[in-house]
Amino acid sequence: MCGIVGYIGTKEAKPILLGGLKRLEYRGYDSAGIAVIDQAMSQVKSIGKISSLEKKMANQEFPGSLGIAHTRWATHGQPSDINAHPHIDCQGIIALVHNGIIENYQSLRQLLMQEGHEFVSETDTEVLVHLIEKHYEGNNLEQAVQRALLQSQGAYGIVVVSSSEPNKLVAARNGSPLVLGIKKGEYFVASDVAALLPYTRQVIYLNDGEMVTMDRDGYKVTNLFNQKIDKEIEKIKWDLAMIEKGGFPHFMLKEIYEQPQAISNTLSGRVKGGQNIVHLRSLDGDIIKKLPHINSIKILACGTSWHAGLVAAFLMEKVLRIPVTCEQASEFRYRSPVIQPGTLAISISQSGETADTKGAVELVKELGAYNLGIVNVVGSTIARLVDGGVYLHAGPEIGVASTKAFSCQVTALSILNLGLSKILDRSQPLPSGKPRVPDIDFKKIVDELLILPEKVEQVLKGVYDIKSKRGIVHKIAEELQDKNNFLYLGRGYNYPIALEGALKLKEISYIHAEGYSAAEMKHGPIALIDKEMPVVIIAPSDSEEPISYDKIASNAEVVRARGGRIIAIVNEGDKIISNMAEWVIEIPNTLAHLVPILATIPLQLLAYEIAVLRGNDPDMPRNLAKSVTVE
Ligand code: F6R
Repeated sequence: MCGIVGYIGTKEAKPILLGGLKRLEYRGYDSAGIAVIDQAMSQVKSIGKISSLEKKMANQEFPGSLGIAHTRWATHGQPSDINAHPHIDCQGIIALVHNGIIENYQSLRQLLMQEGHEFVSETDTEVLVHLIEKHYEGNNLEQAVQRALLQSQGAYGIVVVSSSEPNKLVAARNGSPLVLGIKKGEYFVASDVAALLPYTRQVIYLNDGEMVTMDRDGYKVTNLFNQKIDKEIEKIKWDLAMIEKGGFPHFMLKEIYEQPQAISNTLSGRVKGGQNIVHLRSLDGDIIKKLPHINSIKILACGTSWHAGLVAAFLMEKVLRIPVTCEQASEFRYRSPVIQPGTLAISISQSGETADTKGAVELVKELGAYNLGIVNVVGSTIARLVDGGVYLHAGPEIGVASTKAFSCQVTALSILNLGLSKILDRSQPLPSGKPRVPDIDFKKIVDELLILPEKVEQVLKGVYDIKSKRGIVHKIAEELQDKNNFLYLGRGYNYPIALEGALKLKEISYIHAEGYSAAEMKHGPIALIDKEMPVVIIAPSDSEEPISYDKIASNAEVVRARGGRIIAIVNEGDKIISNMAEWVIEIPNTLAHLVPILATIPLQLLAYEIAVLRGNDPDMPRNLAKSVTVE
């Protein structure tokens, strides 16, 4: 949430800052602003997207090779020119951009107002710049920032400049990500690496409680007590093409189409055809000594990642025969949870920065659980907090609605499940002497995982046609785009897919959608069904549990009897549920726990297509932002 860029070097700052902001726009897009320092400070702010800021700047000179910029996702104070960042002190010397929330801003604001500081915005952020101004008297900028931050509570990633010190950029982090980019004679700072990629691959990730002071000759990382901290320079593996649209109209569509490759990347090096072992670094080393003794698993995540976790919870409990629960990190962390000795916590986060998931990881760590992470962004906060984990290697996900991360999360969790099944199998026989883990056809699962990318490709080709726009998904979208409500139903592994399909539709098309367990329908939502109600039924036949198909077939009957308009997601050749449906989307057969990956793809495309037909920008849905770094 909120994107921050800072630059100090020898080049003109303005194009670097604007370019960086555009690459971070997915983090927030309700207003934006920039401040550049040459001899004096020039600054401009604008409500709306970065393009509005650019228009406003078109005829203005912005000399200077030091500056900061911000794209906002409003928390305190509505989107407006005044509430946009940078915020400036009373004397017009200091400029500051901020991502996060200053929790004690009300009391600080009152104090500062009593001391004569004049506030112009409704934001929490503005207190920081006045607090720095207060401490600037008799101190240099980094000292003033340190003193101000020691008085502040809450989350922040900030970058600060002062026209009194035109060879200095100061940045600090607590709870909101910041990464420093290094190039000879030039330094960058940003909320994430996407902004840095055109300029450098050498980066330093700041940790909470750290700050950096840069001038054109170097940088120094310290804590808020000015003690120096040695940091390792890391190399980013992503390249520029990965964060561009590559001919697709939207990032979301590009990322949906990237799924075959992304899943291959998640699998790469970890499973091999015909083998019955998995190669996961997280299961090597020290942690392997602890893992055999785990007796329960707690999966923690938010949003789409939580849906992937629900699929994994079904799978792991079935295979590993220990209790596995999946919880929304946001609820879990505030309900005094009990963590039994021997619990393995698995946290799932695409960004690795979600505040609630991070909070939950910190809590389970404190409570003594072993911690694994399933994360996409390398070097992100959660990736660094956990004891070990599995990176997705899905490449950057820029579309605000998560797509490829979901399929890679389910893939990674399936591999992890295989790995854990080996470890637990060897060490924990049941008292009867039988293996705790029932025999699973390891090689069959590996082989199925390996052909999954092809099957995903097949689904993409079968249901959607980018050029002709004549696929089944287009037909459904055209027919149903004006509906006000949708219902999504699934059972077992596909119940989370009902939730995911509904979430995708809600967030980008703004149509109200409910995801429900088909079994629970009769306990309430059935009242909603009439001839206006599109009902998406996710019902591939499940050879592992044929009863489940029969049951969902009777749920479909119930919908049909009340006039609901059924869109069925079924296996190729399905006869029963297809006959009840107005629209049928076929997906190839696969193992039950991998069906969610194939079944989600048409639902992602349906949400995308409806959003586009309704004139929405699926990459920048209203009120949303990628990477929810505030609570
Ligand atoms: C939905 C979506 C969100 C995220 C959630 C968690 O399309 O993108 O629900 O899944 O905010 O984000 P991560 O996975 O980054 O922790």
